[in-house]
Amino acid sequence: MTERTLILIKPDAVARGLTGEVLRRLEAKGYRITALQQLQASTEQLAAHYAEHEGKPFYQPLVDFMLSGPVVAAIAEGDRVIEGFRSLAGSTEPTTAAPGTIRGDLGRDWGEKVQKNLVHGSDSPESAEHEIGIWFG
Ligand code: CMP
Repeated sequence: MTERTLILIKPDAVARGLTGEVLRRLEAKGYRITALQQLQASTEQLAAHYAEHEGKPFYQPLVDFMLSGPVVAAIAEGDRVIEGFRSLAGSTEPTTAAPGTIRGDLGRDWGEKVQKNLVHGSDSPESAEHEIGIWFG
């Protein structure tokens, strides 16, 4: 079923010049990018986006990391794009994410409290619509 997802290219990936590589993999897999913008995230956007993680030990480091530079937000569309992009991204921990994935090929640990894992993708149709509202209004 055609669906859409919200993708964030996080500040580590933007700073490392990996925006094009992430978008290339997304398009090469066959998904369509229907909206794209680079922006400086606000604390309000991050509080809404990461509400489920509030209170966890990595919450403040995560917010600080996400404020540390510009992010790129994208909406991608296609059949099963939510699962498809999460599969392209790989598992959360970049050190052990499978080779062949964005995190596995391009990410690693840097000795910090937060995992700088390059990208975010929505995990359900409900969170996709919620997150698209946060980043695209
Ligand atoms: P993301 O998929 O954007 O969702 C929450 C983010 O928090 C996650 O990617 C990581 O960047 C970070 N994160 C999740 N779990 C941990 C953890 N145990 N330690 C540090 N950072 C984490």
